[in-house]
Amino acid sequence: MAHSNHNHIIAALQNAYPFDDKSTTLLDFACGKGLISRGLAPYCKRIVAVDRLQTSVDFFEERVHNQGIPEDELHVVCAELQGHDSELDGEKFDVVVCSAAYHHLESIEATTGVLAFFLKPGGYLLVVDFMTSDKAIPEDVPHRFGFSKDQICAAFEGAGLIEVDFEQLSSARFHGQTVDLFLARGKKSS
Ligand SMILES: C[S@@+](CC[C@H](N)C(=O)[O-])C[C@H]1O[C@@H](n2cnc3c(N)ncnc32)[C@H](O)[C@@H]1O
Repeated sequence: MAHSNHNHIIAALQNAYPFDDKSTTLLDFACGKGLISRGLAPYCKRIVAVDRLQTSVDFFEERVHNQGIPEDELHVVCAELQGHDSELDGEKFDVVVCSAAYHHLESIEATTGVLAFFLKPGGYLLVVDFMTSDKAIPEDVPHRFGFSKDQICAAFEGAGLIEVDFEQLSSARFHGQTVDLFLARGKKSS
C-alpha cells in the first residue's frame, strides 16, 4: 500500500481510540515493515510489533535501532502467535491493531480469537482491511475479494468481543486496484 494510505489509516485509528503516550500499550499484529507502528509510536507508551516474516521484522528492527528508539518503547518480534500465556512474556495490551493483513489469513475467525486473547479486559481490537467487491485483487491470498461487514462482525462476536462497530473509510489504491477500506472495532469485556 502507498504511504498516503497509511497516513489515512493512522488518522482513522487515532479517531477510533483515545491513544495516550503516557499509558497506551499497543500490539501491532502483522506489522510488516512497521509503517503503522511508526505512525502510532508518538501516541503510545509502548508498542510490541509482530510479524511472521523474518525479512520484514529485520528491516523494521534495523530502522528502530538506527533511530535509537529504546526496546521497551518499540519491540519487534518474529512469531506466528497462537494465543498462549507463554507468548509475548504473557503481556496483554490496551489496543491490538491489524492493518491490511486479514485478507492474508487462512481463518479470520481463529486469528480474531488469538488477537482478542492478547487484549486486556476493556481493551480494543482495531482491524483495517478492504471491503467486498466483485473484482478480486491480483494476489494469491485466501480473501482476494475482501470482506463484508457481516463476516467481520461475526468473527469479532465469535471471539467474544462486544460493542462491535464497522466503519467504511475512503477508498485506497491496493495492488493496482481501487478498493474501499473499512475499520472494525470491538471491545473485550471488562
Ligand atoms: C500487506 S502486509 C501489511 C503490513 C502492515 N500491517 C501495514 O499495514 O503496512 C501483511 C503482513 O501480514 C503478515 N502476516 C500474515 N499472516 C500473518 C500471521 N498469521 N502472523 C503474523 N503475520 C502475518 C505478513 O507477513 C505481512 O507482513
